[in-house]
Amino acid sequence: MFITGLGGYLGSEIGRRAPAAGWDVEGISGSAQLDVRDADAVRAAIAAARPDVVVHTAYRMDDASVNVDGTRAVGAAATAAGARLVHLSSDLVFGGREARALTESDAPEPVTAYGASKLEAERVCPPGALLVRTSLLYGGERPSTHELMAIEAADGDRDMAFFTDEVRCPIAVGDLAAAILELAGADVAGPLHVAGADALTRLEFARLVAARHGRDPDALRGGVGGPERPKHIALDSSRARALLRARLRGAREVLAP
Ligand SMILES: NC(=O)c1ccc[n+]([C@@H]2O[C@H](COP(=O)([O-])OP(=O)(O)OC[C@H]3O[C@@H](n4cnc5c(N)ncnc54)[C@H](OP(=O)(O)O)[C@@H]3O)[C@@H](O)[C@H]2O)c1
Repeated sequence: MFITGLGGYLGSEIGRRAPAAGWDVEGISGSAQLDVRDADAVRAAIAAARPDVVVHTAYRMDDASVNVDGTRAVGAAATAAGARLVHLSSDLVFGGREARALTESDAPEPVTAYGASKLEAERVCPPGALLVRTSLLYGGERPSTHELMAIEAADGDRDMAFFTDEVRCPIAVGDLAAAILELAGADVAGPLHVAGADALTRLEFARLVAARHGRDPDALRGGVGGPERPKHIALDSSRARALLRARLRGAREVLAP
């Protein structure tokens, strides 16, 4: 298995768990080692590793070229090496105008530049790639950025409101890593929703995180996002659940005191 973003929050968790799941791991830790947009260098690195599967987690929230050109380069390199591509995508390919869970049959309709870049990234993946759409990550060996926001706000170190009109299905990074390691060996392609079982507002999630980290959840305040913000982008992960042994737990269970 070849992993891009091996030094990132998800990539490091997959890399840590891969040997126990029977995978040898090589990869690109981050941009300082190799820029995923450098198509020739990416092709050489993946060709040298001769992997069965390439898991592409590398991305930047604020740089569409990393998400699109980088994915194009990684996808082409995987194809040239005869490897399957497992590409990490996002619930933000949706805007979520209706209050219902979204399945793989729903048409993507991003409302942020980042979401648009992740949708474009899906579209430059080679045929046969698995497109894993996931949601807010938390619960790793260190707190994720989403957890840190809640902790810092509860401590009074950050002045922010948590959206009460944005609904998502946060997933424990270990659950997602276990799912990806299973899916890496499965015969499944196209979009697949892999997110946690509970649909929560950003405020509900932040309060669960704060309580789990010993803070007062009521110290956090809510607010509404603007019209350009994503709304109800809860992912329906039933198709993934039917394929997987790994559980996709809800945040209420994972973060229970
Ligand atoms: N985090 C979430 O809540 C969330 C939610 C939905 C979907 N996702 C998706 O899940 C995937 C993984 O997210 P994550 O939270 O694990 O990300 P992360 O912790 O920010 O890690 C991203 C990795 O990509 C690397 N990277 C960035 N630009 C690069 C470049 N030009 N060349 C090579 N490597 C580069 C980073 O390394 P350096 O920084 O050292 O360059 C880092 O190792 C992403 O595809 C993301 O879209 C994440």
